[in-house]
Amino acid sequence: MKKIAKLSEIKVGEIKPFDFDGEKIIIINCGKEIVALSGICPHADAPLEEGYLDKECSTIECPWHNNIFDLSNGDSIEGPSYEGLTKFDVKIIDDQIYIGLK
Ligand code: FES
Repeated sequence: MKKIAKLSEIKVGEIKPFDFDGEKIIIINCGKEIVALSGICPHADAPLEEGYLDKECSTIECPWHNNIFDLSNGDSIEGPSYEGLTKFDVKIIDDQIYIGLK
């Protein structure tokens, strides 16, 4: 796993972009859970750090054409994209967030 960010840098409800081995990812602080997903929408490359979380912090909506992705697995649950996002493993040790591929 790779050290990416400090937990204290990401407020609850915030989506922040980071670089993971040259790939853009987003880290979302849902309060009870930290979620890491690929950060570019597969439909037309929108920056997902500008996306919208639902109230339950269970989905993210693309800011450009409103694709909805499931935060539990990265799947696309409402188009236009059939392709989902990659979900990364997250580990938190003290204040440090580590990311890895499943
Ligand atoms: S770029 Fe995300 S839905 Fe089109």
